[in-house]
This record gives sequence, C-alpha cells and structure tokens, in this order.
Amino acid sequence: MPTFSIHTYGCQMNVRESEAAAKALLDAGFAQAPDEETADIVLVNTCSVRGKAEDKALGKLGLLCATKRERPGRVVGVMGCMAQRMGGELFKRLPRLDFAIGTRCAERVVPAVEAALHGDTTLALRDLHDRPDAPNGHVAGGFSAFVTILLGCNRRCTYCIVPDVRGDEWSRPARDVLAEVRALAAQGVREVTLLGQSIMNYGLRTPAFDADDPPSPGGYTRPFPRLLEAVAAIPGIERIRFTSGHPSGVTEELVRLFREEPKICHHLHLPVQSGSDAVLGRMRRGYTREAYLAAVARLRAAAPDLALTTDVIVGFPGETEADFQSTRTLMEEARFDNAFIFKYSPRPGTVSATWEDDVPDAEKARRNQVLLGDQDVRGARINQALVGTTLRVLAEGPSLRNPAKWSGRTPGNKIVVFTPPKGLRPGDFLDLVITRAAPQTLYAD
Ligand code: SAH
Ligand code: SF4
Ligand code: F3S
Repeated sequence: MPTFSIHTYGCQMNVRESEAAAKALLDAGFAQAPDEETADIVLVNTCSVRGKAEDKALGKLGLLCATKRERPGRVVGVMGCMAQRMGGELFKRLPRLDFAIGTRCAERVVPAVEAALHGDTTLALRDLHDRPDAPNGHVAGGFSAFVTILLGCNRRCTYCIVPDVRGDEWSRPARDVLAEVRALAAQGVREVTLLGQSIMNYGLRTPAFDADDPPSPGGYTRPFPRLLEAVAAIPGIERIRFTSGHPSGVTEELVRLFREEPKICHHLHLPVQSGSDAVLGRMRRGYTREAYLAAVARLRAAAPDLALTTDVIVGFPGETEADFQSTRTLMEEARFDNAFIFKYSPRPGTVSATWEDDVPDAEKARRNQVLLGDQDVRGARINQALVGTTLRVLAEGPSLRNPAKWSGRTPGNKIVVFTPPKGLRPGDFLDLVITRAAPQTLYAD
C-alpha cells in the first residue's frame, strides 16, 4: 500500500484536522511513511492567518510538486485554510498539484488521494454557511488529545481572515463531544485540550445541549462551563485544557469552575492583541483594556496560580508609539507567562486591509523585539518564583535536546525537564520539586 506523510502549518485546529486525515487514511489501508522524503503521498495542511504563513506553505508545495518530475506517481495535496481561500487558483500556481481540499471537507481526503492515484485531480470546497462535519477520528496511542468543540468564527475582528476560511461558528452537540472524550479515555488518554477559535462562545450561536441531556450537577446554566463540567466527570480524564479564550467568556460560572473543578488546568490562553483602547476599538475586539484586566483579575482571584498566555499584534494600522507603550504596560499588568507576538499582516478581504498599513516593517520588527525582550525578563521572573515549589507533571517522553532527560508539562503548561525514575512511561504523572528555571523551561534535577 502507498505511504503518506502530512506536514502541518497553523494552529492546533489544523494539528487536530491532520490527525483526523491521518486516521482516515490509515483506516483506508494506507500506511504512515517513516519520513516525508520516502512518502508516496504528501499532504500539506495550511494556514492563511498571515501572509508569511501562506508564503511558507506555497514554497513547500512548490518543492514537493517539483519532486514529481522524478517521481511522477507521487501524490501532492493541500488542505486547510489556504486551500479554502485560494481554491482553484492553487492549480494555476502549482500545475502538478493533485488536490486541494477546503476546511469543511475532511471526508474528501481519502477519495481525493484515491483519485490522484488514478491520475485525477480534485478541488473540494464547501459552502461555509453549511452545517459542517467535525473531525472525530483519532490515531490511537497518545495520552493527550485535541478535541474540536466549536468550528468557525463569527467575531470578525477587522484584521482576521479566519471567519472567511473557517466559516460560521458552529457548536458540536455536547453528546458528540462527550462520546468522543469517553472513547479517548477508554484508549488511555489522560489529558484533553478542547479547541475552538472563540471557544467560550460554545453553545451560544447554535445549541449544544437539548432537553434530553442530563442537567448540570453543579447548576451550570451556560453551555461552555456545563460542557467542561461534563468532560471532567469522565473517569480517566485527569486534565482539561481549552483554547482560545475571550474576556467576554470569563463569566462568573467559568470562574467558579476554575475554583471548584480540580481537573481544569490553571492555564488560559487569552489573546489580548493590544493594550490600547483605540487600537482594540479599530480591531473590533469587543473589550477595553480595563475589561480585559478585570477578567484576568477575576480569574486570578479564583486561581492564584493561573498561568496566563496571550497573542499580541504589533504595527496594526494607526498604532502609535503611545498605543504601543500601552501594550507594554498591559503585558506587565496582566503578568503573562508567555506571549506570541505577531507583526500585523494585511489579509485580503478583511476590513483592516482597506486601511493604510502605515507602520513600516522595520518599526513592526522593533516593536516585536521590544515585547519579546520584555516577555523574556517577565517569563524568567515568573518561572524563578516557582523554584522550590512542587508541581505535578504529566510525563511526555525523552527530551528533544537531551535524551537522557525527559520532559513533561505542569498544569500551567510549562515544560519541565527532569531525570526520569525507572519504569516511567509517557502519560504518567509525577510530583517534582523545581530546582532551576529559564524563561521558557523549568528543571527538576
Ligand atoms: N481565535 C483566536 C485567534 C486565532 S488567529 C482568538 O481570537 O483568540 C491566532 C493569532 O494570530 C491571533 O490571536 C492574532 O494575534 C494573530 N493574527 C490574526 N490575524 C492576524 C493578522 N492579520 N496579522 C498578524 N497577526 C494576526
Ligand atoms: Fe479571528 Fe477574532 Fe475570530 Fe479570533 S475571534 S478567529 S482573531 S475573528
Ligand atoms: Fe491559521 Fe486557519 Fe488556524 S488561518 S491560525 S490554520 S484557523
């Protein structure tokens, strides 16, 4: 049987969809290739969020298609957000491409591969207002899994292409999500990360629960906390994470859940984007600096050891030095454990792309460096304060840098490098005393 390899760009949603595609190909009798070089079928799962993300994927696809000159039977396909955005244009730019599959067409992967093996090309796109199928296949064997609960996004921040490539926000029925998590737990999964672009909107636009669903034992009335409570009740699941958050979703019920449900990891990715109200307004983020910080304060009151991570965009149209300084001070006030900083990239069809991209690239780069420098100092300081404390670590396996050591993660999602005790297996929990800290890593020697 031909072998396949999948190369994934973009967010965890794409990682999840690559896994579902791999599972579908395995079920159809294809085998995972040991590496991309030797694979008969190569799939590239793509991201459109910044221009650079697309450039990388297009470069990669160009190289892969070029290998077809020597290996004419090789199959090269593209899926994900860029496939959805560019569609048929991809075949013009990449004449040897075999297939392009959009974001809500996961079930087309196997047929497209089979068609390509017979020499036929496939372009599969679906109306993004349609009720989608959520990816649900998992490759067995892991102790940690992603589960998509909310597809698409309707928030329409002015800079963002995601609503155009992922379509309308749609919540999977809670019973489907719970069945998937139960099946994962039965296979030995101990940790689940629930995924959605604006995940706290779960069940708000399309219903998640219906009258037949059992009532919430804790009296949760909002669908997202109610779902988390139900996931936490599944035996075998020890840790629950979710991403990404939005301050409007930090409700009293969610805060109560953080306080009362020990399986909810005290970690939250809460993208802030900017610390300036003027910029937040033009981004149409739907909150002010003050509202963001108030949400953080509510969470910290319930979970003082909360690890908070964020995304920031520098160089948004009209961002002044004063706006930028507001972002700097917000990041210090919010005390982020980690931050992903992005240089603004105008995306075709978005509202902000019609505005002048007036912050020069060199200035975006400078602002990016300043924030990264601040974050390094802050991260080192926060991690240093953890030295001497005992943290519960989920062991992942040998460390990439030093195979004599293992790495694992704390509830706050920080990586800990440690010497493994005899007989330790990936997926085991252990309590470790932190002996040393770096900005991004903790050590337990
Ligand atoms: N749904 C998530 C974000 C998904 S995109 C949320 O809203 O929380 C991931 C990150 O990419 C965003 O948080 C933002 O920081 C960044 N991003 C999105 N569009 C961008 C653009 N046009 N230019 C630069 N960064 C962008
Ligand atoms: Fe994009 Fe905003 Fe939706 Fe996040 S919430 S995916 S930034 S439109
Ligand atoms: Fe990129 Fe699509 Fe995720 S645009 S960030 S892969 S939703």
